[in-house]
Amino acid sequence: MARKNFIVTLAVLLLTSVGVMAAKSAGCGKSPTIRSQQYSITVNGKSRQYIVRLPATYDQNTAHKLVFTWHQLGGSAQKIRDGENTNQGGALPFYGLPPLAGNSAIFVAPQGLNNGWGNQGGEDLTFFDSMVKTLEADLCIETSLRFSTGFSYGGAMSFAIACARPKEIRAIGVLSGGQLSGCQGGTEPVAYYGQHGTADSVLNVSGGRQMRDRFVRNNGCTAVSEPQPGSTSVKVEYKNCKTGYPVTWVVHRGDHNPSQTDNGQIFAPKNTWDFFSQFTAQ
Ligand SMILES: *[C@@H]1O[C@H](CO)[C@@H](O)[C@H](O)[C@H]1NC(C)=O
Repeated sequence: MARKNFIVTLAVLLLTSVGVMAAKSAGCGKSPTIRSQQYSITVNGKSRQYIVRLPATYDQNTAHKLVFTWHQLGGSAQKIRDGENTNQGGALPFYGLPPLAGNSAIFVAPQGLNNGWGNQGGEDLTFFDSMVKTLEADLCIETSLRFSTGFSYGGAMSFAIACARPKEIRAIGVLSGGQLSGCQGGTEPVAYYGQHGTADSVLNVSGGRQMRDRFVRNNGCTAVSEPQPGSTSVKVEYKNCKTGYPVTWVVHRGDHNPSQTDNGQIFAPKNTWDFFSQFTAQ
């Protein structure tokens, strides 16, 4: 009996400590006012727009992942929401992640000024901060499970967030990115998924490797020799990274395209979600 009580007490203590460490947003338990639609917010005196996608079944008592999906140059929040023709280099809706996420995640598609992420004076980072604040005041989000991904300029913006907001973001996914939105700071570890084509004619693969290598270093991973993709992509999971800060790199032989396929299957969504969903509340 004493032993059983001890075990129960231990279990309660363990659960309590996990509960303390995990950080649920202020919106948990509240009846939400935010819906799946477009919103405007004023940032540094400029009107900025973003589209929210709630899960089909939103539970105000469940802490959700928060996933930012940034568009490419010339793209838009609407095109991220609706998806674009993948046979012409477009991406699936919200980069193909919602069917994999089920009800576990809230997605956000922000709209760039001039349809890009120039991040002048850090204004797009401030936009990111404002969206996080607004969403978490109203919706139930696990604040240790924020993610960011995007193709091309959208990958650049995700990279800029990892550089400048390492404590605010759990992991990023950079699809054929370049360092176009800056890298303020850039010395802290952040879990990193990158994919790039060796035939990229817009943002070359060396740029993608340089971005990756910053986080290979920051995350304390052991460098590996560059793999050569064959008819399908090659995935490298770096070894010896600090706990909680993995780096995965997928290299393929294709051009600048978020919807590259292996045997007819677009591989970015599953790779990205496999990477993001390995993390739990901390
Ligand atoms: C890759 O692109 C960068 C930036 O445009 C350029 O400076 C560099 O020379 C290019 N590298 C290769 C190998 O083409």
